[in-house]
Amino acid sequence: MSNSNRLRIAIQKGGRLSKDCQDLLKQLGVKLNLREQRLIAHSTNMPIDVLRVRDDDIPGLVMDGVCDLGIVGENVLVEVQAERQRQGVPSEVTKLSKLDFGYCRLALAWPQELGKQDKSWFEGKRIATTYPEILTQYLKREGINASTVMLTGSVEVAPRAGLADAICDLVSTGATLEANGLMQGDTILESNACLIQNKDLQDADKLALINKLMPRLRGVRQAKE
Ligand code: PRP
Ligand code: ZN
Ligand code: MG
Repeated sequence: MSNSNRLRIAIQKGGRLSKDCQDLLKQLGVKLNLREQRLIAHSTNMPIDVLRVRDDDIPGLVMDGVCDLGIVGENVLVEVQAERQRQGVPSEVTKLSKLDFGYCRLALAWPQELGKQDKSWFEGKRIATTYPEILTQYLKREGINASTVMLTGSVEVAPRAGLADAICDLVSTGATLEANGLMQGDTILESNACLIQNKDLQDADKLALINKLMPRLRGVRQAKE
């Protein structure tokens, strides 16, 4: 569906995965002229264009064939997949590889002053999150009746701002929870960055280029072990 004959790769612009994505492309030998504020960076040595977008947009861009490849956290991938399945729009991708960065967990958290709580505490509570699909599935599985409050950012301030009783957000180092006086509870999902491909990609040149890059990717991953 992509109207360009250059391989289009979507990566996160400004965020937890950005630096690692840029480093990975460099290690794969993709030379880029990444100037700030540019949405698209053209590779100078391969027929590759890199699109820098919000992480939340990456799965959809790949599912719809706007981009051929994407690097995204499994957390975002799972969330978008669930949302699109509910809407009945294409939600499948080919997972090419798990990557060795972007590890985090999606976990519940609540104000520290409340002390330790078990699952029953969540009954009737409001939980702020950027991952309403994953959270709703979890609550259903656990038989907890709680409502979700969708926030696309600053989830960690929701309890203090009186917008919610608890949160369900990504935790990496734990610094954000700590800085906001929140106590971490159950992990709902563990996540890593992964490389995804549009599942209908058929362009022979693009597939050949991907086939050339994959052994390099395996080499980079092995070198890290
Ligand atoms: C996540 C999360 C917290 C932060 C937690 O945001 O929303 O803000 O990382 O990390 P920490 O435990 O190391 O403090 P992220 O940058 O992944 O995604 P976003 O920009 O899409 O919210
Ligand atoms: Zn995001
Ligand atoms: Mg954040």
